[in-house]
Amino acid sequence: MTFRKADWPRKLRSQEWYGGTSRDNIYHRGWLKNQGYPHDLFDGRPVIGILNTWSDLTPCNGHLRELAEKVKAGVWEAGGFPLEVPVFSASENTFRPTAMMYRNLAAMAVEEVMRAQPIDGAVLLVGCDKTTPSLLMAAASTDLPSIVVTGGPMLNGWFRGERVGSGTALWQMSEDIKAGRMTSADFLEAEQAMSRSSGTCNTMGTASTMASMAEALGMALSGNAAIPGVDARRRVMAQLTGRRIVQMVKDDLRPSDILTRAAFENAVRTNGAIGGSTNAVIHLLALAGRCEVDLTLDDWDRLGRDVPTIVNLMPSGKYLMEEFFYAGGLPVVLKRLGEAGMLNRDALTVSGGPIWDEVKDAVNWNEDVILPAEKALTSSGGIAVLRGNLAPNGAVLKPSAASPHLMKHRGRAVVFEDIDDYKAQINCDDLDIDEDCVMVLKNCGPKGYPGMSEVGNMGLPPKVLRKGVTDMVRISDARMSGTAYGTVVLHTSPEAAVGGPLAVVRTGDMIELDVPARRLHLDISDTDLAERLAAWRPVTDAPASGYARLFHEHVEGAETGADFDFLKGRRGHEVPRDSH
Ligand code: FES
Repeated sequence: MTFRKADWPRKLRSQEWYGGTSRDNIYHRGWLKNQGYPHDLFDGRPVIGILNTWSDLTPCNGHLRELAEKVKAGVWEAGGFPLEVPVFSASENTFRPTAMMYRNLAAMAVEEVMRAQPIDGAVLLVGCDKTTPSLLMAAASTDLPSIVVTGGPMLNGWFRGERVGSGTALWQMSEDIKAGRMTSADFLEAEQAMSRSSGTCNTMGTASTMASMAEALGMALSGNAAIPGVDARRRVMAQLTGRRIVQMVKDDLRPSDILTRAAFENAVRTNGAIGGSTNAVIHLLALAGRCEVDLTLDDWDRLGRDVPTIVNLMPSGKYLMEEFFYAGGLPVVLKRLGEAGMLNRDALTVSGGPIWDEVKDAVNWNEDVILPAEKALTSSGGIAVLRGNLAPNGAVLKPSAASPHLMKHRGRAVVFEDIDDYKAQINCDDLDIDEDCVMVLKNCGPKGYPGMSEVGNMGLPPKVLRKGVTDMVRISDARMSGTAYGTVVLHTSPEAAVGGPLAVVRTGDMIELDVPARRLHLDISDTDLAERLAAWRPVTDAPASGYARLFHEHVEGAETGADFDFLKGRRGHEVPRDSH
């Protein structure tokens, strides 16, 4: 049965601006006519905002203007009126201190753009990591009919016969340089081979993960996530998305109809199956907060625990997004989840029907890319949520990217007070560290960095790398890139900058990590820990003014998604009063 909540035709919100003969209506309509729009376009048809995160400084989204033209074509075809709107574009590879500091700003700005402007529905044209969650959060809070179309991943990188995965290869090669296995000249040559085409990172990094999350949540058309950015089918997907949003407006199909608890459960399990980024934890918790869905960190552990990672993509596996697309893409994964009883089959999608209808006929064309369950990269591919006296509010680890021999480990802490301290010490051969130690990095959480940087997968010391060691246990309150790997404990909460136990770890303390038992323990007495915490003082002052001040005062902990406390929930799309 196809979803339909409202009759058509009916009066839409855009008619508050464009639909009458008052002075204000003429003002709104008349000025837009300077772009050459005929009068009959203002007759009450759905006005669709194409919210475009294109920017020259967001290269992963550099081709979205071209895609926007395809979206427009689809909107026109379906009888809508498309208007392209540039919105805040938080680029992962340029924003400092970290793009994550601006996710909430982007979400806030886009929410206001949606509410304050005469649009009846929105196409969220996104790609690079933060652009997808920020626009989804805005759409959830306004609850205007919305649909995602992503820019798609880059084509495979190739260097000397090997696949070069965005980010993943960068981390590997920089370690190879430190270990003396690669020259700087080779590194520079490899740089040319990494990014061969328009699109987002070609690994199952955060961009591909969030594209997959949008599809699993039901907020994008089926098959959207994996189509390469330069494939003609990406442009077809954009056009079909443009057509679809017009019908969604007519049917009044909104995010609140789609982003239900069932949809979030599907997305969490999907993340386990694809070996998705730990960043999805933060973004989906924040999105659930906007949707007033009670999703918790523990849901991530519980729902993902039995999900095998079957997508053999870097950083957990071998292939890249191009091959994932050729193998059948996310619909195959969703079908497999459904067959295993791990998919809420009735969850509604932007199609207007249940998700199962979209995926039940999917075919796996390459069982080395989308693996049979018995050949899964790991049988428990979800996110492990760790607790203990070092992380009372939780910390996360991605088992599919970790080393099996380190999943139970006890080691001596080597502490870096912040990222500058780490950088100053890590390359010193007299640093007292070996492969059995536990590297601890403080003050990289939401308030500490600020913005919660992707430095949690801190590189290993050269003297350890030279022994051929490739992984050590690392613990921080930071995030890590979705393209990264290792036995890395992230998002430790409360963070060090607010006086969480991480703040009082000292070099020489013993730390126990027990992933099977979900335990992260600082091996000192309760009395010692209490005394250290009582003596703790903040190491930096709050910013005096500006957005940094707003961020510091209102950002919440990683365990609830690091949204601003005042942005949670829905605020709707009631038409604001006119000022003219
Ligand atoms: Fe933009 Fe990876 S840096 S998608």
